[in-house]
Amino acid sequence: MIEKPAPTLARARKTKPAAESDLDIQKNVYARWAPVYDKVYSKLLADAHQRTANAVSEDAERILEIGVGTGLILPYYPQDRSIFGVDLSLPMLKKAAARVAKRKLSQVRMLLAMDACHLGFADRTFDAIAVPFVLTLVPDPERALDEALRVLKPGGQIVITTRFGAEEGPQAKVEEMLAPIVKKIGWSTSFKLARVRRWAESHGVHDIDGPENTFPGGYFKMIKVRKPIAL
Ligand SMILES: C[S@@+](CC[C@H](N)C(=O)[O-])C[C@H]1O[C@@H](n2cnc3c(N)ncnc32)[C@H](O)[C@@H]1O
Repeated sequence: MIEKPAPTLARARKTKPAAESDLDIQKNVYARWAPVYDKVYSKLLADAHQRTANAVSEDAERILEIGVGTGLILPYYPQDRSIFGVDLSLPMLKKAAARVAKRKLSQVRMLLAMDACHLGFADRTFDAIAVPFVLTLVPDPERALDEALRVLKPGGQIVITTRFGAEEGPQAKVEEMLAPIVKKIGWSTSFKLARVRRWAESHGVHDIDGPENTFPGGYFKMIKVRKPIAL
């Protein structure tokens, strides 16, 4: 069920050790998270996961989940939807595939190894897209949003769930200071909602719903961005 990407030319030609790229950091971090991820996060994120699945399934049949991870959200999707999941990390995807098999999640059509910034789908493929707890980890989040918008049908929604950093003040300063450190454990502290709003404005996307608070106490938030019919 999991399809591996073809090795890139750049990788084949590598002659001297390069600095570890942000993508390699994420791959290494999530290879370490894969065996323990569900134990740490399944309860903590359950409310956000359920709300994300409900929101993205509204009026949508073919759904893409970007950064599907171990597939904790997959059981929440209704059985009459078609779910496609992509993730950078093969160890995380293998956990997701095991969940699909064990729980007989027939709504899950495909799990694919893919970078959020280079989606291998045609324009306007999906009715809706879920981006749960991943946008803040992508080195170029605007590029990932561009890709999501490209593969989304006009009128469809992108549902983004994550923790947003403080916009300004002392908390923002501390979060920015901590950002390079927490990146090494696959977390993000400083990504701001304003960045999504700026991206949306610059793409003529004005229909943004939220943020909606999720457990615990609004620490994690969900926003819904609707692609205009005209795009
Ligand atoms: C915090 S986990 C979230 C997993 C799942 N969405 C959840 O809510 O449980 C972040 C996931 O994003 C994936 N990821 C990180 N960078 C990515 C990228 N550039 N493209 C696709 N997936 C990425 C990681 O491999 C990891 O599985």
